[in-house]
Amino acid sequence: MAASSRVPGFYRLSVDERRRELTARAALSQADLRVLDGGGLDPEIANHMVENVIGIYSLPVGLALNFRVNDRDFLVPMVVEEPSVIAAASNAARMVRTGGGFLAEADDPVMTAQIEVLGVGDHDAARARLEEATAELLALAQAALPRLVDRGGGARALEVRTLPGRVILHVHVDCRDAMGANLANTVAEALADRAAHLAGGRRGLRILTNLCDRRCVRVTARVPAPELATADMDGPDVRDGIVAASRFAEDDPYRAATHNKGIMNGVDAVVIATGNDWRGVEAGAHAFAAIDGRYRPLATWRADPDGGANADLVGRLEMPMAIGTVGGTLHAHEGARLAQRLMGVTDAKTLAMIVGSAGLASNLAALRALATDGILRGHMPLHYRSHMIARDAETGG
Ligand code: MEV
Repeated sequence: MAASSRVPGFYRLSVDERRRELTARAALSQADLRVLDGGGLDPEIANHMVENVIGIYSLPVGLALNFRVNDRDFLVPMVVEEPSVIAAASNAARMVRTGGGFLAEADDPVMTAQIEVLGVGDHDAARARLEEATAELLALAQAALPRLVDRGGGARALEVRTLPGRVILHVHVDCRDAMGANLANTVAEALADRAAHLAGGRRGLRILTNLCDRRCVRVTARVPAPELATADMDGPDVRDGIVAASRFAEDDPYRAATHNKGIMNGVDAVVIATGNDWRGVEAGAHAFAAIDGRYRPLATWRADPDGGANADLVGRLEMPMAIGTVGGTLHAHEGARLAQRLMGVTDAKTLAMIVGSAGLASNLAALRALATDGILRGHMPLHYRSHMIARDAETGG
């Protein structure tokens, strides 16, 4: 049984007391947690991770509480520099918990490799030849990924796309618990010459796409209206304000960008804490948001149509989620490995569902603050306070 993610009064404890509380709840010792004292990354390892290293740059890691995803509790580590993100996500997760918790599903972890073929005379004939060679091309891909095939993954399907001046072969690869960029790139390299020959052109770029729309996570959250109430507004009014804020984002790309930024506050914080590539997740998120030609919100909110005046608020998020629990930075970063142990998660699909839930929680918290007290008072009291202190120091106020 996973430990409860409800830890009343956690925010009032000292860092040491929080660590003691954590060791009582997760299969971790005080010694395990000490890797965080140095930011979770050994300087010698850092020196071999990237080039021209001159030191290590740290960020806070905190725990988001109250998360329940598909009937299981999770403590959710977040790495973020922005005040209030962790408190806001925890607060929203507590509200969602009263409605049964997050319901999430994740697609199989399929990344897509792109092989561009240039100088093709007859696109239709090229498409036909590539499609006829599906079995041969998939076998070539499998041969390039023996270890992934042993783990139950591998190339699953091909797709041919044509654009003016180029034919593009997509190879869909089930990466199991890896993020999969290297696996997709390996396939792209392995198939490029043969694909170009079959298509009657010359090979161009060979690289994954971060718009991994076959690897989406979908999350639903339901909040009973009274849970949304503030000191000044009753629950149904707050619910209607959140729905109006959602519609604003659905109607206006300028608002949708900021709405999605609020989602990425939660998403990126967990993606970074678990040693994953947040630039890839960001690229996939925004490309997906614009996939039908217009930039849209990744999550939307409505009142349950069957619920009458006191209807629940229901939110839905869908976005690509290319993250892994093996490989990449995880090998090198002790802090990322610790984050994964702390959550008790070993598979990429479960991690994707937690990350999506953190995104939807962050969105709910932001919209509730905007629909009620406004962002400075409602969502960022700490931020506001530190801003005011700095301003006062500057102005002598
Ligand atoms: C701040 O980091 C994020 C928000 O602006 C998101 C939103 O406006 O929905 C509060």
